[in-house]
Amino acid sequence: MAYEKILVTGGAGYIGSHAVVELYQAGYQPVIVDNFSNSEESALQGIESIIGTSVPVYRVDCADESALRGVFAAEPNIAGVIHFAAFKAVGESVQKPLAYFKNNVGSLLALLAVMPEFGVENLVFSSSCTVYGIPDALPVTEATPTKPASSPYGRTKQMCEDIMHDVSAAPDNKLRTILLRYFNPIGAHDSAKIGELPLGVPNNLVPFITQTAAGIREKLTINGNDYDTPDGTNIRDYIHVVDLAKSHVVAVQRLLDHKATETVETFNVGTGHGNSVLEVVQTFERVTGQKLNYSIGPRRPGDVPAIYADATKAEQVLGFKTETSLADSLASAWKWQQALADKK
Ligand code: UFG
Repeated sequence: MAYEKILVTGGAGYIGSHAVVELYQAGYQPVIVDNFSNSEESALQGIESIIGTSVPVYRVDCADESALRGVFAAEPNIAGVIHFAAFKAVGESVQKPLAYFKNNVGSLLALLAVMPEFGVENLVFSSSCTVYGIPDALPVTEATPTKPASSPYGRTKQMCEDIMHDVSAAPDNKLRTILLRYFNPIGAHDSAKIGELPLGVPNNLVPFITQTAAGIREKLTINGNDYDTPDGTNIRDYIHVVDLAKSHVVAVQRLLDHKATETVETFNVGTGHGNSVLEVVQTFERVTGQKLNYSIGPRRPGDVPAIYADATKAEQVLGFKTETSLADSLASAWKWQQALADKK
C-alpha cells in the first residue's frame, strides 16, 4: 500500500530530486531534508512544477543529530528513509578529506541514531561502484570483492556500507537496509524541469560535454586514450537518472513489504553495458547534431580503466531494469542544458 511517508535526505540534489518525483508519482509522500550545500531552491520549483504540488522541505544539515531529530518529531509515521545527502566530488575529497568524513559518515551516524528513536526501520542508502576500486574482472557483480578506495570520497562509501553491516548485525537490531551501488548517473528529467546543477567547472563527463556544446567551456579534454580498452578511452556504465531514481522506489517498496531476505541487501544499479568516453562523445554529437570541440589529454589520476555492472541481481530480485538508452539519456542532458541557458 502506497501513500507512506518517505524521508529523502539530499532530496533537492541531482539524484534526490528525481527520486522525489518518482516516489510521488508512485503514490508515496516524500519529505525532503536538505541543507542546500550543493543544491538550489530552483530544484524545489522544478519538482513542484512536475508533480503539481509542493513537498515538505526541511532546511537541515543531516549530520546535525538534534536538528534531524526535530524533523522526525515534526513528521510522524515516517515509513522509510532514502539517504542521498553526501558530498560526491572525488577530487575535492582529496583536498578536504575531513569535510567528507564529517559530512558523509556523520550524516549516516546521525540518521542511525535517530531512526530507532522513532521506530523507523527501513533505509535505502546511496552507495557507489567506486567501492569496487579497479576490479579484476568485468562486469562487476555484488559479490565482486571491494578494493581499497582510491579517494576519501570512495572510502566514505565503503565506511558507510561497513557501518550499516555492523549495525545490522547487532543483537537488538531492527534496521533493514538496501545498499544501491550506483554506476554513472547522467541526463535529466524529460520535462527539463530538474537536472544536474554543477557548481563551477564540472568534474563529470556529461555536464562537461553539454557545457562545451553550449559554448560555456572551450573544449572537452578526454582523459587519456591509451588504456587497454577497444578505443583506448575509459569505459563506464552510464545510467539515466530517472531510471536510477526508479530503483529507489522499488527498493523502498521491497523494504516496506518485508520482502528483504537479509538485513542488508546490496544491488548494483547500472545498465549492464559499458561505453567508452569516445562513444559517449560520438553518441552526443549524433543525437544532438552538435559538433563537439575536444582533444585527447593525459590520464586523470585515480581513474578506473573500465567498469560496468552486472545488473542481473537487481533485475531478478527487484524486478528493476533500465529503460533509457545512452542516446536518449544524452538527449535529455542536452535538453536540460538548453533549459538552463533559457533561465539565465
Ligand atoms: N572524463 C573525461 N573528461 C572530462 C571528464 C571526465 O575524459 O572532462 C572521463 C573520465 O576520465 C572518465 C569518464 O569520463 O573516464 C567518466 O568520468 P566522470 O567524472 O563523469 O565519472 P567517474 O566514473 O570518474 O566517477 C563516477 C562518479 C563518482 C564515483 C565514480 C566511481 O562521479 O562519484 O564514478 O567509479 F565515485
